Amino acid sequence: MARLAVNVDHIATVRQARLAAEPDPVIAAALAELAGCHGIIVHLREDRRHIQDRDVALLRETVKTRLNLEMAAIPEIVKIALAIKPDMACLVPEKRRELTTEGGLNVAGQKKSIRATVRELHKKGIVVSLFIDPDAKQISAAKECGAEFIELHTGIYSNARTEKEQDREFDRICGAVETAAALGLKVNAGHGLDYRNISRLVAIRGIEEFSIGHSIIARAVLVGMERAVREMLELIQQGSHRGGR
Ligand code: PXP
Repeated sequence: MARLAVNVDHIATVRQARLAAEPDPVIAAALAELAGCHGIIVHLREDRRHIQDRDVALLRETVKTRLNLEMAAIPEIVKIALAIKPDMACLVPEKRRELTTEGGLNVAGQKKSIRATVRELHKKGIVVSLFIDPDAKQISAAKECGAEFIELHTGIYSNARTEKEQDREFDRICGAVETAAALGLKVNAGHGLDYRNISRLVAIRGIEEFSIGHSIIARAVLVGMERAVREMLELIQQGSHRGGR
């Protein structure tokens, strides 16, 4: 069965709306783990719009599964990652004005600097993933940079407005998983995944972990964290049992 890693950024988004002490993403992470998730993800943005340095430090101490730090490959954040030593660092592109990460990292266009960041993180024993579009050129560049994992950007699949558009992107993702496997890269996937669109992706063999934030937190606000995580886990489990491509 593929694993589920829960992104708790938006618990911090609610907290920061009032610059208050609650809700605490550290508590949300513990509840997600009690519900059975396999990992916790946070994105420490340069502008600190949601997750704060204190959250990452506390999560490093309290997360019992695996802590994945999403981050831009910029010196300030790399320094924090090297000190905190998350289990995995996922390098993402970051723009100040975006609402959320838009598009994958252009690894092919900046191999030298990404390779250098990957090396620095490896020296501290941190596994590295690169968040990229399902594109063969980016996948081979990720391999050349020395990453162990790629995370395939599923935003186009998730936001597809027509069945045809979703089919086209689904096929691209399947092709990308095969390309990565042939190069010996491990594959995670995420962005925009929800309780409806996850099922098709779960049937793809070769995706190790789904990284899901917004839809789980949106449901958790109404039904509670544990139920929201458990319901997503059930969908992943059911889909994996069906078997697939
Ligand atoms: N993966 C990456 C690299 C992301 O930047 C995000 C958004 O923080 C996600 C996965 C999760 O996306 P969503 O919140 O839409 O589930």
